[in-house]
Amino acid sequence: MNKPIHKFYSDAEEYWSKIPPTIDGMLGGFGHISQVDVQTSKIFLQQLFKSKDPPGRTYAADCGAGIGRISKHLLLNIFDKVDLIEQNEIFLDRARDYLGPKLISKVGSFVPVALQNFKAESNKYDIIWIQWVLGHLTDAHCIQFFHNCINSLKPNGMIVVKENITSGQLEVDEKDSSVTRPIHELKCLFKESGLDCYRQMKQSSFPKELYNVYMFALKPKSNLEINTDLPATNVNLVAVS
Ligand SMILES: C[S@@+](CC[C@H](N)C(=O)[O-])C[C@H]1O[C@@H](n2cnc3c(N)ncnc32)[C@H](O)[C@@H]1O
Repeated sequence: MNKPIHKFYSDAEEYWSKIPPTIDGMLGGFGHISQVDVQTSKIFLQQLFKSKDPPGRTYAADCGAGIGRISKHLLLNIFDKVDLIEQNEIFLDRARDYLGPKLISKVGSFVPVALQNFKAESNKYDIIWIQWVLGHLTDAHCIQFFHNCINSLKPNGMIVVKENITSGQLEVDEKDSSVTRPIHELKCLFKESGLDCYRQMKQSSFPKELYNVYMFALKPKSNLEINTDLPATNVNLVAVS
C-alpha cells in the first residue's frame, strides 16, 4: 500500500459505509463463526478473571464495535456498563435496536469516533476490548491509541486484542484499506506502547480459509509514564509494498 494517511482512513470509511449493518457484514460473510468466536472469547476472559490481580467487572469498552456483536453476546453479560466506540454511525444506530431495551440500559455511551481520534477519560475501564479493527490503524496511531487506552484503564485493568495474524509478512488489503500484521509486528507495537503481553490464546475451530486469530491480554508495564497529550509523531504509512 502506498497512499497518504488520510486516504488510508477515508478509503476504509467508504468501504464500511457500503457494508450492511448485519453480523454477516461485520464478519465479511462469515457470520456463522460469531458464536464460536464469542464462546472462545468468554473462556479467555474468564481466565483473566481467575488471574492473581484480576480486572474488575464494572466497565468495559468495545472498540471498533460495529453493530455491537461482542457487546451483546459477551461484554454486556459480564460488565455493569459498556461503551461502544465505532466510527460508522449507521452501525451504532443499528446497535441500539440490535442490543434491545434490556441491554441498552447498560450501555454507558455510544461513541461515534474513529479510534485514531479516541481519547477516553482516565481511570474508567476494567477491560478494553479491541477486535478486528487494529488493521485499520497505522502503526503510529496504534501506539497513540494504546497510550490513550492505558490512560483510561482502572487499576488491574487490561486491554484485550483479538486480531487476524499472517503467517509471513504484513499483508495489505486494498479493498477495505487495512493491513494484517504478523504476530511479531503486533507484539512490537504492544511493546513500544508500554504493554506487557500477560496471556495469549489462539482461536480454534475457525474455517481453514481464514487467517489465524489470536487473543492477547495486555497490561501496562509497571512504572510506565505516558504523555497522551502528545500527537502521534512519525505517523507514516503502515506499509509500503
Ligand atoms: C471487521 S468489523 C468488526 C466489528 C466488531 N469488532 C466485531 O467483531 O463484530 C470492523 C469494524 O471496525 C470499524 N472501523 C474501521 N476503522 C475504524 C476506525 N479507524 N475507528 C473505529 N472503528 C473503525 C468498522 O466500521 C467496523 O465496524
